[in-house]
Amino acid sequence: MAALLVCAGALLLWSEMPLVTTTEAGVPIQGPSATLIYDDWYPALRTDQLRNGKLATAMLLGIPLVVGRRKDGRVFAMRDSCPHRGIPLSVGWFDGNRVTCRYHGWEFEPCSGRCELIPSLSSHDHLDATKIYASAYPCEERDGHAWVYVPGPGSGKRAQGAEIRPVPELKKFEERYRTAFLTADLPCNVDHGIIGLMDPAHGPFVHQAWWWRSRASIREKTKKFEPIAEGFRMSAHAPSANSAPYKLLGVYGQPVETTIDFVLPNRRTEIIRAGEKWFSSLTTVTPVTASTCRIDVIAAWNVFYWVPFLTPIAKFFGAKFVRQDQETMIQQAEGLKHNPSLMLIDDADKPAKWYFALKQARLEGTGKHPLDGAVELHWRS
Ligand code: FES
Ligand SMILES: [Fe+2]
Repeated sequence: MAALLVCAGALLLWSEMPLVTTTEAGVPIQGPSATLIYDDWYPALRTDQLRNGKLATAMLLGIPLVVGRRKDGRVFAMRDSCPHRGIPLSVGWFDGNRVTCRYHGWEFEPCSGRCELIPSLSSHDHLDATKIYASAYPCEERDGHAWVYVPGPGSGKRAQGAEIRPVPELKKFEERYRTAFLTADLPCNVDHGIIGLMDPAHGPFVHQAWWWRSRASIREKTKKFEPIAEGFRMSAHAPSANSAPYKLLGVYGQPVETTIDFVLPNRRTEIIRAGEKWFSSLTTVTPVTASTCRIDVIAAWNVFYWVPFLTPIAKFFGAKFVRQDQETMIQQAEGLKHNPSLMLIDDADKPAKWYFALKQARLEGTGKHPLDGAVELHWRS
């Protein structure tokens, strides 16, 4: 987990990563697929892409989505497919209230998916258009993401008002803060994306940089973990002394403490506090399809609030950092194409083992937790 912190967090953020998840021939790099976790929230896209009366598209868990914002400000996400004859709704029209299919002009209220009008119906027809629904998914805006709740295939239309899990949200500790976001497509399945980022042992090799750490700085670490609901926590600890950004935080003269949680299906939160100062990030690795994923990092902080140009500098380093992970995973995807057998070792890969056990428990509904109490892990990084 230390590396999750490493990979996603710290003072780094942002990028407009070009999509390099295709081979030189332009073919998508395709590795083995992962089992997907449904009935949970995933970030579909950034809501600053939702312009007035425009429809945007996204893909989550292999489901094509059309996403937009109604005139009243509410965001919506529908399956990008007309229930009549399947043309993508995103090629149709949107007037801020209704989505109109380009093929036969059926009109849909996009939050509920309800069909409001079928223009071809005559006085001789008895079909009630409003009994027809396009697939619409619960969609909520938080921290600049449009989060979409993806129900399991074939689970039918969710009863209005039925209990669903709370929408994920970045923790903030006061009103005033700075914020940044970064994203990168990864050419591997969500399992490889998640365990790649939670793996502490790659840091000194993948992220060698004068401002971060070097191979020579490898040292033995001991971290305490404890079970939390559907996940685990790296208990509050002083961050790695061999990482420059954490040394920087030392200027406040307060003890620096960081807590990192991983929670299913794909969320890692990190909170760093030094007295009144804080840095908070939420990283998600989202299955775009069963064999590809995307990492999104949103962060907020009040550390160095008054330092000019800090945000662009942080974004520059953040982009570089995630880029190193992305490039490594592109190389890894080349190897994974041939379905090699793989291994996980103790202790450095223990969090990965917990992830797989938690995921299996969720998929099978056993509620079994791989940790029955606090444990210490040791590794060198
Ligand atoms: S395909 Fe959409 S209205 Fe016919
Ligand atoms: Fe990394």
